[in-house]
Amino acid sequence: MNKSINILRLMVKDHQKIENLLKNLEEKNNKDFDSMRIAFNKFEWELEKHIFTEEKAIFTSYNPDDITEGYKMLPELTKQHNFIVNKLNNWRKDIRNKRMISDFYSFKVYLTRHKSFEEEKVYPMLDESLPEDEKLHIIAKINEIVQK
Ligand SMILES: [Fe+2]
Ligand SMILES: [Fe+2]
Repeated sequence: MNKSINILRLMVKDHQKIENLLKNLEEKNNKDFDSMRIAFNKFEWELEKHIFTEEKAIFTSYNPDDITEGYKMLPELTKQHNFIVNKLNNWRKDIRNKRMISDFYSFKVYLTRHKSFEEEKVYPMLDESLPEDEKLHIIAKINEIVQK
């Protein structure tokens, strides 16, 4: 295996960027509506881009012949992403109605668990099992969307 071609490393960086935006949102959520709204817009934009990248550039490439543990991860990931996108949409509605966002802490816990699942299970497994040329192809797509 070529360790220099590494999807995990790239995506961990993007997870850190999203974590920082989430921290910023938490701070601004304790302040005023307008600061919270601006922080939410940034957070939502980066998280939606991240999920798009995962679903359209990364996970679509994983297509094993046999039903392995890895293969079963994909429906679980999609389920988690749907939960996350749904929460973002609800917060977007709150903001349109000039309300502060609610249930911040439980969402933070959910997102942290999702991130750990990807970093500990999903990405190591992809890096391990995908052929090098496929990984290079994926990394080129990631770089089109995710800022360095
Ligand atoms: Fe994800
Ligand atoms: Fe992720």
